[in-house]
This record gives sequence, C-alpha cells and structure tokens, in this order.
Amino acid sequence: MEKIPGIRGTKDILPNTIDQWHFLFDNFNKISNQFGYSELRTPIFEKTEVFHRSIGEQTDIVNKEMYTFTDKGGESITLRPEETAALVRSVIQNSLLHENNILRLWYFGPYFRYERPQKGRLRQFHQYGAELIGSPNPEADAESIQLAVALAKSVGITDYKLLLNSLGNDASRQKYRAELVNYLEQNKNSLSFESQNRMMTNPLRVLDSKDEGDIELLKNAPVILDSLDSDSITHFNLLTSILNDVGIGYEISNQLVRGLDYYSHSVFEFRSTMLGSQDSFGGGGRYDGLFTQLGGKETPAVGFAFGLERILLILEAAQKLPLFEKNVDFFVVIQNSEYLNFANKVMQILRNKGYSVISELSRRSFKAQMRDANKSNAKFACIIGESEFNNNKIAVKNLATSEQKEIPFNEITNLNL
Ligand code: HAM
Repeated sequence: MEKIPGIRGTKDILPNTIDQWHFLFDNFNKISNQFGYSELRTPIFEKTEVFHRSIGEQTDIVNKEMYTFTDKGGESITLRPEETAALVRSVIQNSLLHENNILRLWYFGPYFRYERPQKGRLRQFHQYGAELIGSPNPEADAESIQLAVALAKSVGITDYKLLLNSLGNDASRQKYRAELVNYLEQNKNSLSFESQNRMMTNPLRVLDSKDEGDIELLKNAPVILDSLDSDSITHFNLLTSILNDVGIGYEISNQLVRGLDYYSHSVFEFRSTMLGSQDSFGGGGRYDGLFTQLGGKETPAVGFAFGLERILLILEAAQKLPLFEKNVDFFVVIQNSEYLNFANKVMQILRNKGYSVISELSRRSFKAQMRDANKSNAKFACIIGESEFNNNKIAVKNLATSEQKEIPFNEITNLNL
C-alpha cells in the first residue's frame, strides 16, 4: 500500500519537541495568571459568518485563506483562522460580560489558514493570545502590550522590534481613507497591479505592500497620525507615555495597518530579525467595533496573539531553548517471563508511590535488558532475577553509581530513594 503523507503546511509535534510546547504553555499560563487573565477554549470551527462579519470580506484571510466547507446539514462551517472573533462570539453567547465589568481572557491552540507554506508559515499553526474586554481607555492598550512583553521575556525573547501605530476612531479613519485614496488615485499608474485592486477594496492595506515601486510611492503618502482627531490623539499619547514610563521600547510605524479589518485606535506588531521574511511573531490592537458586528452590545476591547511556531523558531535560532531531559525513576529488568506477575505487582506498588516506571516488553535476554536500562536515562534498575524471585525481593541498582541494594517485597511500600 502507498503511504499517506500529512497535509502540506501541517506539522506533527513529535515527542522530541513536545516539551518545548509545554514550556511555552506553562510559562504563558503563569504570566497570564499574574496579570489576572483566565483561559478560555472555543471549538476549532465556527459558523463561517463569525469570520466574514468580523475579519472583513476584503481581507486576504476571508478572501483566500479560510478552510470553509459545507457540513452534512448544509451549514457553512470554517476552521478558525484566528481566535478574536470566535472568542467575542463566545463572550456574547455565554453572557460573560456583566455591566461595567472587565474581562481578561487568554487562549492557546491551533488555527488554520490556507497560505503558501514556507519557513514560519503553516496551514495549521498555533497561537497564544490574550483579550482585554470592557475598557475604552489607553491604559488597557498599555496593559495588553505589557502582558505581551512579559510573556515574550518569560520564554527568553527580549530582542525584537515593537511597531506601533494608531488607526484612530471611525471618523479619523474615514477621513484618512479618503485622503489616501485620493493620493493613490493620482498615482494609480505607478502602483502595482495588486495595489490598484486593493485601492478600490481595502485601501489601507496598500500601505502593507511589499512591492518596491509601491514602497517608494508610499513614502510621500499622507500619514494616518496626521488625520487623527483630538480624542484619538489623546488616546495614543497616553498609551505611548505609559510605555515610555514603564520602559517599553517601540517604534512608531505609519504604515502598520494589520491584516484584519476590525481594528481601531492602537495597532501593534512584534518583529524579529531571526525569522526571515515572515518576521512578525505577534500582533494585535484595539477592536471597539467587533462586539456590535457580532450582534453584541457596544463593548470596547483590545488584545493580541503570538504565533507559537515563530516563537520557537526565534528561540531555536538564538539557542535559547532550554534542554528538556526525560528521566524515569525505574527501569524494571525481568529475567524470565515466569516472573511477570511478580514484576507487575512490584511495578504497581512503585507507581502507586509516585515513581515513574517502565519495563522492557520484548522479553530479551537479561544482559540486553540491563543494556537497555543503562541507555534509558532511568535513575535505577529494578532487577527481578532468579534469586530475587525465589526469595520474594527485588534488587535496586543505582545506574549512576552502580551501587545495589536488596529490598524484600513487603518493604517496597516503605522504599525511600
Ligand atoms: P495575526 O497577525 O493575523 O493576528 O496573527 C497573529 C500571529 O500569528 C502572527 O503575528 C504570526 O506570528 C502568527 N501567524 C499568523 N498566520 C500564521 C501562519 N500561517 N503560520 C504561522 N504563524 C502564523 C490575529 O490573529 C489577531 N487575532 C490578533 C489579535 C488578538 N488582535 C486582537 N486580539
């Protein structure tokens, strides 16, 4: 029979790297708790409409990248390409937000985008994210960024660029959009084909263009920060002053607009030079309009997500991944299959005492089993040979020092190593 490969752009997380994932999860769990955030898990699929209404019809994610299918009941379903919209759906549905309340939530899990796979870009990838719901104020944006910085630091990432921009409130953004379209129209013939299309559908995304000609042209484009009204400027100024006072470095980037349509006011992105072309390992911003788009009442919110494969790539390149050693306490060597029942009783007692225990299951020779025990990283061999079996005892050999002790069966419960 032919072998069946996994799907392009997906990766198995093998036993030799799973500890890296637990390392991220454990650190992120700890720091999230420190900031008062609780974990929330939503299903990996949602009604397609959840993402259509929120991320934006004209974004690459909705237009080209969603895994959408019709289920057997005729309903259009989408594998979640991101969490924010799904989480907002869940907060509304479960009435998690009460009057004047603040909700702090985090998540960790797989997401799906039909993108061209390359280094740091997968079709199933993983995110950690955190959402702060209920505050319209810039100190909430500051908290969100401080949490992101603390999380990155907790796993050893301190060398990166934090880009920051403001898209302002709706009125400011509409004003800027008109100015930008005006500028782009005047220079339409110099724009790349893709940007000419984007100019009509989603003009702010033209600012993101990677085309060299576009980049040159955009140097003279109107700047969004110049279009902000006084409320939007006050919001942005308080955010930057808090970041300054807590010592978080950032770079203001006039062209940072992000790939999802739900943002207003602050947007930010974490970039690393360790990643190559897919250099953004996290991003987020404020999304005050999303709750009403998904049928909830008007609720301000801000948040971000990290791409976990990219975080691991950075740690690997910087040689900052901790070494994870798997150690078991006992490797049980069973000389003869007639001793198996006795051996299993011994193993049960050891496991009940909380020790980790493995045994060889191929019934190889005593010598081969001892060799396996030495190679296994176990701290002790528990030897059940002929004399041990006949005398109702076990031998415990310290594999580092070769020191060996005999322990009668009924004293194993008192064993203290
Ligand atoms: P995003 O920028 O689309 O934002 O994704 C966040 C991070 O996920 C990216 O910076 C990147 O590290 C990672 N990522 C995205 N696509 C891929 C991919 N195909 N392969 C590997 N990694 C990927 C969001 O998803 C927003 N929901 C963030 C947010 C939360 N905004 C407010 N709250």
